Amino acid sequence: MHNPTTASSGVAHAAGFAVTGRADTPPMGWNSWNKFAGDIDEDLIKQTADGIVAEGLDQLGYEYVNIDDCWMAPERDADGNLRPAPDRFPGGIAALADYVHAKGLKLGIYSSAGTCTCEGLPASLDHEVQDASAFASWGVDFLKYDNCHDEGRPARERYQAMGKALAATGREIVFSICSWGLGEPWIFGPEVGGSLWRTTPDIADSWDSVMEILDQQAGLEKYSFQGGWNDPDMLEVGNGGMTGTEYRAHFSLWALLNAPLLLGHDVRAMDSDTKKILSNREVIAVNQDWGGSQGRRMAVDGDREVWAKPMSDGSAAVVLLNRGEATRTVTTDTATIGLDGSGTYALKDLWSGEQSTTSGEISASVPPHGVVMCRAWHSRVPGRRSEVS
Ligand code: GLA
Repeated sequence: MHNPTTASSGVAHAAGFAVTGRADTPPMGWNSWNKFAGDIDEDLIKQTADGIVAEGLDQLGYEYVNIDDCWMAPERDADGNLRPAPDRFPGGIAALADYVHAKGLKLGIYSSAGTCTCEGLPASLDHEVQDASAFASWGVDFLKYDNCHDEGRPARERYQAMGKALAATGREIVFSICSWGLGEPWIFGPEVGGSLWRTTPDIADSWDSVMEILDQQAGLEKYSFQGGWNDPDMLEVGNGGMTGTEYRAHFSLWALLNAPLLLGHDVRAMDSDTKKILSNREVIAVNQDWGGSQGRRMAVDGDREVWAKPMSDGSAAVVLLNRGEATRTVTTDTATIGLDGSGTYALKDLWSGEQSTTSGEISASVPPHGVVMCRAWHSRVPGRRSEVS
């Protein structure tokens, strides 16, 4: 039988606290909320699982199919159990989990560390053991645990109760803390068994929202570790509120931040531009790699910013960001992005595929509300250059 204590060894998880499922890389998948809000049913979930496989997104690492708020009936049953809304989830969650698992995917579910969810449906405060054991018995793999209707009780205590209850089930369930940054989840999250924690309020499908959230990530980089991820919220790529350039920037930045990559659009009706953004293997590889730190802001010059992260092979990923309204040249150098700054570097633009070399300077013309994302390898390190493919 699975032992939740030995299966969970995130380096910064609190000693002695049994962690539930682990997420050694930032979780990738889909969540219903950004596109569908409360308008969800089991057909949508099944069709999304079908779509993830049909579009080959599973082959890129997108594996979680996460049901957000509004899956539950307005009342618990006579025994106090949460139950799915009978009209929209008539087959029940266990059957849905079977369906999703048969596709090689994993099922996520949602509740709140409060008396009700944000949409006013029954939630798990003071029902943690009963609800966690229901989730486990249904075959759920991931729990997003929200923060509405908290009765004024401390976040750490409320999230700890669910973290313990999940670990006690013996099933590996990734625990996603959604306190919107309240109560410093980057501190208490790892201590209560969380694998990821929302750092900020809800994202919206707009450039301003993406930039506002981005600003709030600066400084949080010291709290993430392999198995414990800062979560700047789910992706909006493909939902129609931003341009392709803006969506590419959103995806590039989230990748650099080692953020969970949870798709938030209608996978069943994905256009080719959206698919192209979400399928960039080299950008995804930056997201899934742990080189000792998530991406961080390295330099700011007005609307021009440089964000970078170390890669485990000794290279560095860099995002040159232009927040302004006109095309600008954004310039940095290898020392600023954390490389030793001497010698020759091979550079690859991860969106255009263009390759070049530099003795230090990294500079590109960046469109308004856009990024250029590159990876730089030190040419003198044997084997490194060949990784530019
Ligand atoms: C909160 C969360 C969102 C979503 C909704 C559902 O606002 O932050 O991500 O889960 O609740 O009601």
